[in-house]
Amino acid sequence: MDNALGEPQTIVLLGGTSDIGRAIVSRLVSPSTQTVVLAGRRPAELTAGELDRPGVKVDAVAFDATEPGTHEALVRQLVADHGDLDVVVLAFGQLVEQDELDADPVRAAELVTVNYTGAVSISLAVAAQFRRQGHGRLVVLSSVAGERVRKANYVYGSSKAGLDGFAQGLGDALAGTGASVLVVRPGFVHSSMTAGMKAAPFATTPGAVADATVKALAHGRRTVWVPGTLRFVFSAFRHLPGPVWRRLPLG
Ligand SMILES: NC(=O)c1ccc[n+]([C@@H]2O[C@H](COP(=O)([O-])OP(=O)(O)OC[C@H]3O[C@@H](n4cnc5c(N)ncnc54)[C@H](OP(=O)(O)O)[C@@H]3O)[C@@H](O)[C@H]2O)c1
Repeated sequence: MDNALGEPQTIVLLGGTSDIGRAIVSRLVSPSTQTVVLAGRRPAELTAGELDRPGVKVDAVAFDATEPGTHEALVRQLVADHGDLDVVVLAFGQLVEQDELDADPVRAAELVTVNYTGAVSISLAVAAQFRRQGHGRLVVLSSVAGERVRKANYVYGSSKAGLDGFAQGLGDALAGTGASVLVVRPGFVHSSMTAGMKAAPFATTPGAVADATVKALAHGRRTVWVPGTLRFVFSAFRHLPGPVWRRLPLG
């Protein structure tokens, strides 16, 4: 249960190695925090690292987005082990070059399964638990890539568009239950996911995404763009005529 200052006792990171996810959790940990759960495909490799703080237990559990049949049981097990889940950060995702996906439809399907299908499945399991508890905050890492899908990464972008729409709808469905969803829409972030890629304009860092996310949570917001300027940039992009949009040098 959050304390009177809204500080969570139990935090779950889905995508336990995510640079952005770990930066968010690092800033959410407070003296009230008792447990951080890192969930990922290879739990033996999930280490506390920078999240190792006095009085905070860091656990690692197995989680694979491509196995939706395991997601409800995982949430039940987390609750049995740690009690109510105060904040769940959904930070898993895959980004693969569009050329590679054009040549490999099976790989494209896997990416969509992780970024969308798996996110829907685990979010619904978390939301059911939030309803039972009467509280809980789900942070969903969407992307500006879903706001207007670009030809340079349309499989990834479409998976994020689906995820973003789902997360907004889930947030609306949870209104009045005590639970909430925060949709985070970063632009290009320097992280393991983008290592070796040419940075896009307004590129930012996991730390900056984390600062904006924690601030948005504190203010009870439903969406946050990082950096905030991208909200206005993409608002303009969204309404450009197709021929103009297609000619923009956006990669
Ligand atoms: N970096 C950016 O420019 C950017 C911009 C906007 C939005 N985002 C979104 O922000 C989120 C975090 O990105 P990041 O930059 O922190 O990337 P990251 O460091 O590469 O983290 C990605 C995470 O996804 C996990 N993952 C991949 N496939 C999985 C699967 N099948 N099941 C469970 N977990 C899986 C990875 O786990 P493993 O360790 O097992 O691979 C890793 O923990 C992603 O959703 C991403 O799409 C990123």
